[in-house]
Amino acid sequence: MLKLAVFASGGGTNLQALIDACRSKAIGAEIKAVISNNSKAFALERAKKSGIDTFHISKKKYPDENKYVQAIKDVLARYNIDLIVLAGYMKLLPVDIVRNYYGRIINIHPALLPKYGGEGMYGLNVHKAVLQAGEKYSGATVHMVDERYDHGPILIQRRVPVLTNDTPETLAARVLEVEHKILPMAVSLFKK
Ligand code: GRF
Repeated sequence: MLKLAVFASGGGTNLQALIDACRSKAIGAEIKAVISNNSKAFALERAKKSGIDTFHISKKKYPDENKYVQAIKDVLARYNIDLIVLAGYMKLLPVDIVRNYYGRIINIHPALLPKYGGEGMYGLNVHKAVLQAGEKYSGATVHMVDERYDHGPILIQRRVPVLTNDTPETLAARVLEVEHKILPMAVSLFKK
């Protein structure tokens, strides 16, 4: 079974999609740890409800950079993690960890990268920009993580139509639906 560590900063619906896909055996993986920079992230509640170990690791909690990086490394080593999944994680992973795990870190982004990605492009900002640009389509992307935001090689993308009366919220909801489908699919591309 592929051992996953999931990083999340917010509500964790993508994490929940992974939890459900593992439980139903739709994917041959097991979430061993959920890490968040936000101690109040509902993603942590979702993990606890499913009996998954949770860790609050933030620069506030670990002001010393080396201790901060080591705290993340310790979790990844303790569970012998095979694949890191960023599921609504608002921070850049420390470069040392990106290098150690290069090729085994994926991220889900709510747009058709390479457009509408990069620093500041998260949450409703993404969908506002897509609507502002008058795009006919949007969608979601799972990509390999490198040292820049939303930049690594693309693994899976799925398109959704942009409707004339869309608001950022209605578009976000439509994109989120396909996120929940392609993230587990992307995990299943990885073998031990
Ligand atoms: C998703 O739209 C994801 O693409 C983006 O942040 C959002 C996280 O949503 N990175 P959730 O916390 O998984 O519900």
